[in-house]
Amino acid sequence: MTPEPITETEAASAAASGNAATDRFRQSGKLAHVEAAQERVSMLAGRLIKAANDIVLEEKVSYDEYNALKAWLIKVGEDGEWPLFLDVWLEHSVEDVATSHRKGNKGSIEGPYYVPDAPEQKCPATIEMRPDEAGTPLLFQGQVRDTDGAPLAGAKIELWHADEEGFYSQFAPGIPEWNLRGSFIADEQGRFEIHTIQPAPYQIPTDGACGQLIAAAGWHAWRPAHLHLKVSAPGHELLTAQLYFPGDPHNEDDIATATKPELMLDIQPAAAGDGVQTTYDFVLDPVD
Ligand SMILES: [Fe+2]
Repeated sequence: MTPEPITETEAASAAASGNAATDRFRQSGKLAHVEAAQERVSMLAGRLIKAANDIVLEEKVSYDEYNALKAWLIKVGEDGEWPLFLDVWLEHSVEDVATSHRKGNKGSIEGPYYVPDAPEQKCPATIEMRPDEAGTPLLFQGQVRDTDGAPLAGAKIELWHADEEGFYSQFAPGIPEWNLRGSFIADEQGRFEIHTIQPAPYQIPTDGACGQLIAAAGWHAWRPAHLHLKVSAPGHELLTAQLYFPGDPHNEDDIATATKPELMLDIQPAAAGDGVQTTYDFVLDPVD
């Protein structure tokens, strides 16, 4: 079953966005392959519980603080923000572990706003956008190769990103379903050329439980502007990545801790037409 789309009449809210992300996760198939041995569950859950108890004892946590935590955890669930909370504050470490063996690109977190099966086009291509889409035109191009340097013909580049207001289609109201989302097929030389617009930096939703924590702690909610990507080719490991724009004030203090120096784009004036262009090559590891 496809998750209910967020309608134009529905107010933009953390709960609407969070519930859409929760539905997407439930239906993603990611739970189909989870196998957990009893010893592993006991060890991981035991360490997590011990870490929390150690904090309580060391920081002398009061009943008021304990009850505030309990209320907040309940609200995270009510707002559908478990995917957001986990993807913002934990996924980057899981991603580090998962890709540490790679000789090619290591990548970055997926985040909560990926939607599979975006419309497919052959490169060169223009991503789906509104006729009056705001934003600086961006030509994103490059080549997909294997770890020996051989081009990966017909590699698939899935691209999704926020609009100039910092909103994602299917998670914010009033945006066409596949706006600024697409799957692009590289040519025989593994080269791709995608026309889109430069996304804006955005704050994660501030009107739900995660925003409540951020305000209470005096943190900020900003993610630097970024492109989200999944790059794949038969016989090679799927690369999930984000690419960033130099000069963004939040490249150094991304709330999701998902920036890496090797993920920074080199932005140049467009060789043809308006806007800017950038070239970024991907290297995929073979599947063992
Ligand atoms: Fe994002």
